[in-house]
Amino acid sequence: MKLSAILVPLTFLRIAVAEGTAIVGALKEVHNVTTNLGNSVANWDGSMLGMVPILTENTFLLVSVIKGTKTAEKSEPLNLGQAIEVANAASTLVKSVNSTLSIIINAKPKFDKLSMSPVTLANLGLQKNAADEMSTAIISKVPADYQGFARSLVTPITNSFQLAIDTFHP
Ligand SMILES: *[C@@H]1O[C@H](CO)[C@@H](O)[C@H](O)[C@H]1NC(C)=O
Ligand SMILES: *[C@@H]1O[C@H](CO)[C@@H](O)[C@H](O)[C@H]1NC(C)=O
Repeated sequence: MKLSAILVPLTFLRIAVAEGTAIVGALKEVHNVTTNLGNSVANWDGSMLGMVPILTENTFLLVSVIKGTKTAEKSEPLNLGQAIEVANAASTLVKSVNSTLSIIINAKPKFDKLSMSPVTLANLGLQKNAADEMSTAIISKVPADYQGFARSLVTPITNSFQLAIDTFHP
């Protein structure tokens, strides 16, 4: 086999990977912010002052999800290799969303004590809508045959938010 026959596919792969990284990068950022929020709530002493970083990180989360939607909307359609990378990043995000929202659900008594549960509920609603929009934007770039699978992959994110919203609903 000629060397060029190997090099050409490798070059293709590198280009493919480079193009896929915009959505992957956005998902990693959302994962990061989600994890930070979970850590802040987990370490929260229940004071009003301690709410400040939590509120800030809630805003960061919303902003990073909206940014992720924009990134996905601007993206070219993904090839299968790129879609698999995105799927990996999405399944990592599924785990951090589950973990962070579990922490928030468990902290509800602390939010109640400061009358901050309605604010938390409002944030959860905004974040859920934004996450749904980001998922829709990303799925639209996945090859048609894999869109059903992609949807099932991110459904737990919607479910986690719904569980948290139901918990905080008066
Ligand atoms: C992830 O979060 C940490 C802590 O806030 C920050 O220092 C880091 O730059 C973030 N990384 C990415 C890729 O966003
Ligand atoms: C997290 O995942 C576990 C296991 O699938 C599930 O039982 C639980 O309801 C999830 N919690 C949230 C907040 O999504």
